[in-house]
Amino acid sequence: MLKEGLLDKFSEKGYLISSDLSMENINYDELYDYLLKKYNNKEGEMFVIDNDIIESFKNEFTPKLESVAGFPDINTILEESSFKKTTEFSSKIELKPKIIAPKKDFRGDIETNIEIIKNHTIINKKKSISSFISHYSSRFEKIKNMLLLRGDIKDIININKVGDNPVSVIGLVKHCNTTKSGNFIIELEDMTDTINILITPSSEDFVKTSLIVLDEVIAISGKKSGRFFYGNKIFFPEFPEKERSSSKEDVVVAFASDIHIGSNMFLEKKLLKFIDWLNLKKGNEKQMELASKVKYLVIPGDLIDGIGIYPGQEKELNIPDVYKQYAKFAEYFENIPETIELIVSPGNHDAVRMAEPQPPLYKDFAEPIYKMSKKINILSNPCFVNLHKKDDYPGSNVLIYHGYSFDHYIAEVPFLRKYGYEKIEYLLKFLLDKRHLAPTHGSTLFTPGSDELIIENIPDIFATGHIHKARIDKYKGAVVLSSSCFQGRTSFQEKVGHHPEPGKIPLVNLKTGELKLMEF
Ligand SMILES: [Fe+2]
Repeated sequence: MLKEGLLDKFSEKGYLISSDLSMENINYDELYDYLLKKYNNKEGEMFVIDNDIIESFKNEFTPKLESVAGFPDINTILEESSFKKTTEFSSKIELKPKIIAPKKDFRGDIETNIEIIKNHTIINKKKSISSFISHYSSRFEKIKNMLLLRGDIKDIININKVGDNPVSVIGLVKHCNTTKSGNFIIELEDMTDTINILITPSSEDFVKTSLIVLDEVIAISGKKSGRFFYGNKIFFPEFPEKERSSSKEDVVVAFASDIHIGSNMFLEKKLLKFIDWLNLKKGNEKQMELASKVKYLVIPGDLIDGIGIYPGQEKELNIPDVYKQYAKFAEYFENIPETIELIVSPGNHDAVRMAEPQPPLYKDFAEPIYKMSKKINILSNPCFVNLHKKDDYPGSNVLIYHGYSFDHYIAEVPFLRKYGYEKIEYLLKFLLDKRHLAPTHGSTLFTPGSDELIIENIPDIFATGHIHKARIDKYKGAVVLSSSCFQGRTSFQEKVGHHPEPGKIPLVNLKTGELKLMEF
């Protein structure tokens, strides 16, 4: 039964409520706005609201979810046409109706299971020049082995052994540039020597030269003639094609990064809507059924806005205290259902050292998070976990990385620059094929040692954040995704031309392989 005041509001506008109408679970304000928008009748006219109209109101918010198609590999990524084939999410879901949770509870008794495969805890070893040498030597050896495992690179020899026969060399890219005449010159270095390689526009893999970045390890086949080694074929370590295995249990993993608690642009309403949805308090029946399948929530960094991260940030904070920012985070996420297991790792706004790998949140600052009553895993950035391993399912391997290095490649690699932050999925695929999260020195801060940013373990899901836009796609059988954020556009983002798309949650179903984006 409509409250009297509301009934007046409807009748004032000429909307008559049919007596046999079932108005259970309907938010009247939402309905009123909907009617105004859709059936705005002229003054003095009457309009009867019947069950069909109520049904169409409910359907307006029914999710139209779509899986996404694949993406060409890096060999075809350069073709303009390939980009266009990449799936766009044409449909988005908005959780507008504030429908009260039905009595039906979809939640089953599925147990979560997390295996932590890689978690970088802080090691306070003194660093010196030799740490940098061992850093790049370890990178060279590890990626060289990946290149050798490809099996299609012929006659590999050390650079100091190059003679006049056709051979292949593996090395770290020391310098590279395009000459005025259009040739590509690259200086490659291995443990024995360096070599200058000339790749002319007529060579077989010339198109791949635009994908080469400094300090990565690649292989080049060719032949020496005079002063130069003429390169013909270029090989990257590449991400291997994966065969997806399916969980027998219908389980969904949700990804929500860049919460930015403490910022005056923090979008509390959107976060509360998301948490309400997880608690089956918002959404229609279909949406709540989906919420009930969420058993894992991954948060890849920037839990808080932090302090002193960019110039003038202090003017944009409504909680200018990291302790209180983390306490507030714990307060919000304490309301996540018991059935969901949380995984949190830091980003560049969190109060841990910036150099990657970033250790798990410090207990000193983030104590309230450590004290949360939830099942929570507080891990490093990057980290690698296996989700939901069962007797009949090997689990889903998830590489979690916040994404601080991303800005460098978007700015420096021409084909990524062309699409900027709009097509972050291209960058994720590009890095997977490099088998490195930040190959170029200076693209992120790092602690020298054994190069922990190499992608050694092959993930089923590569989950990132930082960009404040949600994207989800498939690549060679794996899932690549970027979570969005719960923060509006800051003055800093305005200055650098970023356009965040807050409140969107990528979802991966481990049983069906379906990918979804949910907007709050
Ligand atoms: Fe962020």
